[in-house]
Amino acid sequence: MSLVSMPSADTNEVVLRVENLCKVFRLPGARGQVFNALNQLNLAVTRGRTLAVVGESGSGKSTMAQLIMKLQRPSAGRVSLRMDSGMRDVADLPARDLYRKVQMVFQDPYASLNPRQRIWRIVSAPLCNYENLSRDERRQRALHYLHQVGLGETQLHAFPYMLSGGQRQRVNIARALATNPEILILDEPLSALDVSVQAQIINLLQDLQRDLGLTYIFISHDIAVVRHFADQVLVMKSGDMVEWGDVDQVLENPSQAYTRQLLGSMPGRPRDLPVRKELINVMAGG
Ligand SMILES: Nc1ncnc2c1ncn2[C@@H]1O[C@H](COP(=O)(O)OP(=O)(O)O)[C@@H](O)[C@H]1O
Ligand SMILES: [Mg+2]
Repeated sequence: MSLVSMPSADTNEVVLRVENLCKVFRLPGARGQVFNALNQLNLAVTRGRTLAVVGESGSGKSTMAQLIMKLQRPSAGRVSLRMDSGMRDVADLPARDLYRKVQMVFQDPYASLNPRQRIWRIVSAPLCNYENLSRDERRQRALHYLHQVGLGETQLHAFPYMLSGGQRQRVNIARALATNPEILILDEPLSALDVSVQAQIINLLQDLQRDLGLTYIFISHDIAVVRHFADQVLVMKSGDMVEWGDVDQVLENPSQAYTRQLLGSMPGRPRDLPVRKELINVMAGG
């Protein structure tokens, strides 16, 4: 009998925890001057749910994402991730174990793709850290993940410049899916896209979450999208946590004056997003 337990289906299970996370940047040239980009951040992310992170530009959202991904080192505090053996400090995890569980999609879908590589190479690249794959196997695997994001054979051999913005962001998502991660950090993944394309990408992200049981940390400027998409929301200001709670509660009945101010100033007052499944298929055709 196997003693290895399957991941719990408990939807209240915390898969990522951030405790007292701080990041201090030393300012170049300035004598000993420092800048607190993140102060004592605490949060927990639940399996299969979406935590939205909102806040004005410079509030520390991307810094938080980079600390989770170990792209930067925290000045204090820690990030822990649920592994088979329980919660583990990411500082102690080899990058290959971390990236198997957590992947990231960036804001600019073009800048994050190597312009000299064909799409199959880009999408299958993360797999090469884990498996020895032939060229043919890489193409097959890339095609599988392209299908998951509504793309196909046509895009497999293309270069990034041949694709539309929405297709490029789909490629970024396909590459993020290639290690079968449990958590995706989406850092303003819609900001560079037209509104109609944004709706298609949101649909896609929702389908993927439902089908693959993904957990999302979704950094966004758009309150309408957050309301539609997220379960919980974290409001940040100048590196501080202002408020954290269920979307309905925080957006409809914010407890902090800053949140009310932010809601008033952010784009995307409530509106009906054209969220329709068939749009994805149209998009997938090219
Ligand atoms: N390497 C760095 N050195 C100094 N300051 C930085 C560095 N990276 C980010 N910052 C500063 O930290 C703050 C938070 O940045 P960031 O996390 O990118 O904000 P957001 O994603 O919310 O717009 C900003 O004021 C930014 O200028
Ligand atoms: Mg940012």
